[in-house]
Amino acid sequence: MTDPTPAVRARIATLPPDALPAYVYDLTALATHAARVRAALPPRVELYYAAKANPEPRLLTALRPHVDGYEVSSGGELAHVHGAVPDAPLAFGGPGKTPAELVRALELGVARFHVESGHELRMLGALAARHAPGRRIAVLLRFNLPVDGDALDGVSLAMGGRPTPFGADPAEADALVEAVASLPQLELRGVHAHLASGLRAPEQLAVATAIVTWAAALAARHGVPLAEVVVGGGMAVDYGAPGERFAWQTYGGGLGRLAGAHPELTLRIEPGRALTAYCGWYATEVLDVKASHGEEFAVVRGGTHHLRTPATKGHDQPCTVLPSDAPWPHPWPRPAARGDRITLTGQLCTPKDLLARGVAAPGLRAGDRVAFGLAGAYAWNISHHDFLMHPRPGFHFVTSGGEA
Ligand SMILES: Cc1ncc(COP(=O)(O)O)c(C=O)c1O
Repeated sequence: MTDPTPAVRARIATLPPDALPAYVYDLTALATHAARVRAALPPRVELYYAAKANPEPRLLTALRPHVDGYEVSSGGELAHVHGAVPDAPLAFGGPGKTPAELVRALELGVARFHVESGHELRMLGALAARHAPGRRIAVLLRFNLPVDGDALDGVSLAMGGRPTPFGADPAEADALVEAVASLPQLELRGVHAHLASGLRAPEQLAVATAIVTWAAALAARHGVPLAEVVVGGGMAVDYGAPGERFAWQTYGGGLGRLAGAHPELTLRIEPGRALTAYCGWYATEVLDVKASHGEEFAVVRGGTHHLRTPATKGHDQPCTVLPSDAPWPHPWPRPAARGDRITLTGQLCTPKDLLARGVAAPGLRAGDRVAFGLAGAYAWNISHHDFLMHPRPGFHFVTSGGEA
């Protein structure tokens, strides 16, 4: 279900029209969900939250009791997440790290560096000598691993298993392991891979098994210990079937078996979307309803400049209509849908500003409200806010007890 929780629904109802659109987050729902995810994972599996999914400080804080750390992928995220949850272990990943970012990460004492290339590795070694003399720096080498079979077929955002700029090519693995050994301050803790987003539990397990098997063979070839393997994030969120959830129990059970086969190993996962997507709603109001060439459209306040997710992923954002019984303030008739299905668009002057097509909303009227669900991840923070200079949305945080 994507229906707003009672606390979210109550908050939306209190907002005057010009306080819309608004993002409303339910922090209790987030904490409950994160606690369930953690409980489904075996103790030897560490859970890092990929902050890029939604770096909102209130969400980072609400997640803190349930995660082992946070994965950050830029100097900006590094500073921001460190500011929001100062005690939390950070893993610094992402392609194209600048020297300044690496220095800042060394100064902040990040727990893990996910190194993406030979150049980056040597840069880190040189900067560590200058900026963190005498300290051991924990490194995981990120690889773009080939994945056997069709685990990544049909996956929307494949970042590995094909040519991409992410991680190092596996053909360079032996040279990179030797390079780490030649850099005195760097300690090779293990291997990192994040190969795709949108994988269901069986595919995730197949990918995790392939990564661990490959990493174990690499370590064995070099006679080095393998302490940690990060098998990435990318757990599926199904926007077309919003009531479904990633099968965390199945995944946790499979990771437990994988960990059992490698008793020396700490496994780590770094989901983003599947942790925070469900706790956020983008609430707005229908401004106008019209028919065009046989199709009906409702134009809502805001649009994909606030909630870019449906435009980037090409889906219809699941939504709930919240009819308004407020009196219509104008002397002319209230625009209303005549058919059963309507397309919800935003206020932008582009046909790409589509939030959801074919929504079953018979009788939808101007003034009704719509709450778009699954808006807690890759939503506001990936959107092109300034296009057309509409006002920014409000941000609200509720708990099941009320105000957060
Ligand atoms: C390295 C890395 N880890 C984790 C994630 C999180 O992926 P998701 O939000 O799909 O779980 C991403 C997303 O791009 C990533 O690049």
